[in-house]
Amino acid sequence: MTKLKQMRNLIKEKELILTAGAHDAISAQLAEEAGFDAIWASGLGISATHGVPDASILTMTEFLNSTSIINNSVSLPVIADCDSGFGNVHNVVHMIKTYEAAGIAGVCIEDKVFPKRNSFVNSKQTLEEIGEFSIKIKAAKEAQQNEEFIVIARTEALISGLGVNEALERAYSYEDAGADMILIHSKKSTSEEIKEFASKWKGEAPLVIVPTKYPNITFDEIISMRIKMSIYANQSLRASIQSMSDIYNQIINDQSTRKIEHKISSIKKVFQLQGMDNLEKNDKKYTYVQS
Ligand code: SPV
Ligand code: MG
Repeated sequence: MTKLKQMRNLIKEKELILTAGAHDAISAQLAEEAGFDAIWASGLGISATHGVPDASILTMTEFLNSTSIINNSVSLPVIADCDSGFGNVHNVVHMIKTYEAAGIAGVCIEDKVFPKRNSFVNSKQTLEEIGEFSIKIKAAKEAQQNEEFIVIARTEALISGLGVNEALERAYSYEDAGADMILIHSKKSTSEEIKEFASKWKGEAPLVIVPTKYPNITFDEIISMRIKMSIYANQSLRASIQSMSDIYNQIINDQSTRKIEHKISSIKKVFQLQGMDNLEKNDKKYTYVQS
């Protein structure tokens, strides 16, 4: 089954699609092992692991390169965080063709102007005009070759403080333009405005959330709001930052690695993730024996 079909099946069959943010092959593989349904190739995560701000600094090609590494390392479908589409409508058309050709199941583009900034910084959260962004969505849908490819339209209306009505107006316009799903993002510490949006949403397109700033929300609550997909976008990035920092500090403090050995993954686990066992098998299989 292609990853496009897999993603479409998840939308049809799963009440709640659990999607994990990943920034490299290992984070994606661990999400698959844990039982997530899909992967979000996070713009924040990929930028951070390149040591640059989440502010349209990396090029589309750099994001696609990281996203393809993620996609090739798992059997789950991957949704690419494509920020505001890497430019104008022409950039979006090129982006769709390139991501689709790379086997990515779908993309998400957000209604901020290019260059964008991460939703959790307060400065420069300028939105595109509704009409302008709707045309980007229409162009994206018309550019895809396979009808199963998914385009998620993300509105940042709540992030920009414009309120639920503006968010709804935008979401309806993006749905009319052809969006397959609507991502409604919020930076409030409770899920109240998400709940209000979801209860007022009368569109057909399924809803997607990213509950980073309102961590108390449970899977059951999300299902009760009729939200189709929940993206845990940056928890693995933050977990790895914290544990790498703890481990480095402890080595310096203890002047030895004796006390941390039991806390860190085995080399065997690293080998398993990177396919070392398979390589060893292939060693035997592909050894040339002269007759
Ligand atoms: C990302 O993972 O890059 C996202 C989600 O866009 S967030 O950072 O929560 O806005
Ligand atoms: Mg992002």
